[in-house]
Amino acid sequence: MSTELCGLELEHPIVNASGTFDAIAALRTFGDEVLERFPFAAFVSKTITLKPRQGNPPPRLWETAGGLINSIGLPNKGLAGYLEHDLPVLARLPVPLIVNVMGFTREEVATLVAAVAERDEVAGLELNVSCPNVESGLIMGADPRETAALVHRVRPLTAKPLIVKLTPNATDPAAVAHAAQEAGADGVSLVNTLRGMALHPRTGAPWLGARTGGVSGPAIRAIALAQVAQVAERVSVPVVGMGGVETGAHAHALLRAGAAAVAVGTETFRDPRAGARIAAELADIGRDRRVSARL
Ligand SMILES: Cc1cc2nc3c(=O)[nH]c(=O)nc-3n(C[C@H](O)[C@H](O)[C@H](O)COP(=O)(O)O)c2cc1C
Repeated sequence: MSTELCGLELEHPIVNASGTFDAIAALRTFGDEVLERFPFAAFVSKTITLKPRQGNPPPRLWETAGGLINSIGLPNKGLAGYLEHDLPVLARLPVPLIVNVMGFTREEVATLVAAVAERDEVAGLELNVSCPNVESGLIMGADPRETAALVHRVRPLTAKPLIVKLTPNATDPAAVAHAAQEAGADGVSLVNTLRGMALHPRTGAPWLGARTGGVSGPAIRAIALAQVAQVAERVSVPVVGMGGVETGAHAHALLRAGAAAVAVGTETFRDPRAGARIAAELADIGRDRRVSARL
């Protein structure tokens, strides 16, 4: 079950999806048991931005058929707060730490990458490109040229693995993935949430404080599988697949579609140990296959 992802040795192919497992809160709640039986093979931290953010106004969640719409809005302590308060705690985790960063200009992303990458505790970086570049008005990850320009800017800043987290809200995610690879990305991950909306059942006004949010969970599984397959056909760098994974069979499907590793997000709200369970189910599937191949 051990696997390699962009040069990182992983005990199994299941990692967490950024923003859906708060390892610091888990440590506070469950104590050192979290370190002894950490459910994921690597930890991907929630997106950090240069300045602290409060996040979006409430309500921030809507339960939809087979999933969630969230408009959390990336609340975080900002770069300085993360480096001072969170990183020393996350460094205690028994698995490689991948830090997810996002900026509103290329220079902001460059500052984040340079500051995060120089820390020994950090094994790799994930670039969240699902946000607008305030200078061009374009969503960084929706346009192959924007993505390429961003990766070109930050690639020379670190030799550590750089994974570009693609947005599914793009006309051609495979073209964006290819542009990221050509500009020097070591891997790509997908899918982030799909844009969605819910109305207040009585007033008809938008339910979420930010009007729209991102759909995740089983509702997007088939879309994620199609996009992962399409991207994996187009690039030679490793692909981290995610979107609606609840079981080992779902993870297996993404691996069959070409993913090198699988991230689990929304399912961890229901079952915080989902990562370990899904890894065990995946191992069972592998064993069953070997047995049936011998029969
Ligand atoms: C509540 C919530 C918060 C999220 N926060 C982030 C985030 O901070 N950065 C990021 O790149 N993706 C974030 N995501 C997207 C997930 O990492 C993942 O791409 C998406 O939810 C699809 O996987 P899933 O269906 O297994 O949840 C968030 C998703 C949810 C549901």
